[in-house]
Amino acid sequence: MKEPIRVGAEDRVFVLTGAGVSAESGLKTFRDQGGLWEGHRVEDVATPEAWGADAARVWRFYSERRRGAGQAEPNAAHQALAELEEGIGDRFFLCTQNVDDLHERAGSRRLVHMHGELFVSRCAEDCGRAPFADHGLYETEEAIGRCSCGGRIRPHIVWFGEMPLEMERIQREIERSTVMLVVGTSGAVYPAANFVRWAGPGVRKYYIGPEEPMNARAFTRLVLGNAGDVLPGLVEIRD
Ligand code: OAD
Repeated sequence: MKEPIRVGAEDRVFVLTGAGVSAESGLKTFRDQGGLWEGHRVEDVATPEAWGADAARVWRFYSERRRGAGQAEPNAAHQALAELEEGIGDRFFLCTQNVDDLHERAGSRRLVHMHGELFVSRCAEDCGRAPFADHGLYETEEAIGRCSCGGRIRPHIVWFGEMPLEMERIQREIERSTVMLVVGTSGAVYPAANFVRWAGPGVRKYYIGPEEPMNARAFTRLVLGNAGDVLPGLVEIRD
């Protein structure tokens, strides 16, 4: 029997999720792929240099990921987090490193995607046009959409060497949280791996996943197990 995590009327909950929260939806984690990312070297598909060298190859990779994520369904872990938000309202905040939309599809609303979103595109020339929803699949150079400024459109994804999104808001939310739940992330990629250290000493910090993350020592408690098994019923709201 797992000991519940109690959340009272004064608590504010900050949640960080990683690839592990979508694993039970059938989306592979990065670490499970032996240094390759769905058969590709990361530098060939997820860097500004890769985009400069072969934009069509980059779009084929993200088109494939759009297909995969489009077919996946939210699992019990996504649902448990959406229910927690339903229970405590604006005392809940979710930051995900994932680019899939499974949290939204489970019902989460107060969330940011710090590494971007798979189903959003933007102008590669940063002409000022806001990022926009896009479910398109682009396989060739000619097929790649054009912005009204003439620039090519690119995935709204944070590539290696680019800055994560919404960091000020994330930092503010961490600072006012009293409970931190970190789910399914290896604790190897920064700055997300440091969030648990940015939280104050009085904050209760829990890690949920099948194995210890690299930053395990920074947590109050590790709840080891698959997120879809462990998260439902783990948090007890006491208002
Ligand atoms: P990783 O692939 O590095 O780690 C996945 C974590 O999920 C591991 O710690 C697993 O133990 C855990 N895991 C596996 N199955 C699980 C399950 N059923 N329930 C809970 N946890 C499970 O993925 P991330 O830590 O998310 O960045 O990777 C962080 C970032 O590195 C990604 O956002 C991506 C990547 O490079 C960018 O794309 C910028």
